[in-house]
Amino acid sequence: MAKKKRDTVKTLLAGEPREGILVQGWVRTRRDSKGGFSFIEVNDGSCLKNIQVIADHKLDSFKDWNKPLTTGSCVSIHGNLVASQGKGQTVEVQAVSIDVHGTADPESYPLQKKFHSLEYLREISHLRPRTNTIGAVMRVRNRLAYSIHRFFNERGFLYLHTPIITTSDCEGAGEMFQVTTLDMADPPRKEGLIDYNEDFFGRKTSLTVSGQLEAETYAMALSLVYTFGPTFRAENSNTSRHLAEFWMIEPEMAFYDLDDNMELAQEFIQFLFNDVLEHCLGDLEFFNERVDKHLLETLKQVVSHDFERLPYSEAVHLLEKAGEKFEYSVEWGCNLQAEHERYLAEKVFKKPLIIYNYPETIKPFYMKLNEDGETVRAMDVLLPRLGEIIGGSQREDDYDTLMKRIKEKDLDPEEYGWYLDLRRFGSAPHSGFGLGFERLVQFTTGVENIRDVIPFPRTPKHAGF
Ligand code: 4AD
Ligand code: MG
Repeated sequence: MAKKKRDTVKTLLAGEPREGILVQGWVRTRRDSKGGFSFIEVNDGSCLKNIQVIADHKLDSFKDWNKPLTTGSCVSIHGNLVASQGKGQTVEVQAVSIDVHGTADPESYPLQKKFHSLEYLREISHLRPRTNTIGAVMRVRNRLAYSIHRFFNERGFLYLHTPIITTSDCEGAGEMFQVTTLDMADPPRKEGLIDYNEDFFGRKTSLTVSGQLEAETYAMALSLVYTFGPTFRAENSNTSRHLAEFWMIEPEMAFYDLDDNMELAQEFIQFLFNDVLEHCLGDLEFFNERVDKHLLETLKQVVSHDFERLPYSEAVHLLEKAGEKFEYSVEWGCNLQAEHERYLAEKVFKKPLIIYNYPETIKPFYMKLNEDGETVRAMDVLLPRLGEIIGGSQREDDYDTLMKRIKEKDLDPEEYGWYLDLRRFGSAPHSGFGLGFERLVQFTTGVENIRDVIPFPRTPKHAGF
């Protein structure tokens, strides 16, 4: 006989009563009635909701499952889907037989309570997928990843895999994790310095902070490309918006100027929120109820209004006359801090905001210099409550200007020979941006801390389970 296929909780809850179903999952709660029945809530991750199973203590298998079937145990239940008499569900399962695969000793299984703080759950990152919140986050995260690929593929972009091990620091911030096979206790030396000729790649290498520079090489041949991969930053920022390992989506487009870039960024974000509102509504309603009462309203607002566009100089002007007590003072030329970005997006414009044309001095070498010689065609997309979600720019496509900028930033032109070549041979105006995937999941779910929207967060002093 063919093995009976599992019915997911999601399909069962949406289905009509029928016989001969199989539920497999983990027990969330069990309650026994005086009438000789157990009410068992089972979850299999297919959706937020559990399915209720009613098990008669007169079942033959009762003696086998009665003791081991506790919160956290894993079960296979054969039975019939019937209309529910009780409140809270339209259908439920009447068990015919129950097998317990794996037990979870109530004395030691950590997830006994109905509610656990996210801080506590981070300490048991291997078990937290079994909670409502993390399950819902991961379903939303999955849907977003899927619709990101849809968005770009439907628009003729080619998905490009850029390397994780690189030799160039794209952002020039010196926040790279080194990759080496040298013996750290006794590295080979030449004239006192570590001799990287002896290292695996014969030179110093690191984990990438961005796939942009490599993506540019392919945009200069295939026109529209995007990357979606892990990136790494050794910045010591212990904030609710920074990870040492995060995922980034980086489209790179030939023939796009900064305006086209801004337009694409807005269309992209709105597409993703529309899609998730359509396909993850159950999970979003949960977040709306438990995490942020304005979540659905906020998402719907973002998809229905154009983003504000504001030159950096005007942003500084608005902040200077704000009459607000900021921790960091503002003047032309300074980096905008999260507090400034949030003030503008939340208090002044109350909607997503794109700040553009930043001072050349605070942005990386590759951004296109404006005619004023002081600002570059950079853009940051800011969301209310979150702050920066996208950083991007038009790229410098003029050989001489790029060479000058490389030298000014004390970079070695030889290292960037290949990058300069793109301007030497068939250069084209082009633009691109990077969207932090975890920040996107944070905003979509309303979850406060970025550590709770990635399966295994990597942050300073934290890399294990
Ligand atoms: O603004 P960033 O540094 O831009 C770049 O890396 C460009 N090379 C992108 C491009 O033009 N192709 O980073 C882009 C985005 C930020 O806006 C933010 O959302 C996210 O990446 N990000 C982080 N997310 C989590 N943890 C961190 N430490 C992050 N650093 C940046
Ligand atoms: Mg940035």
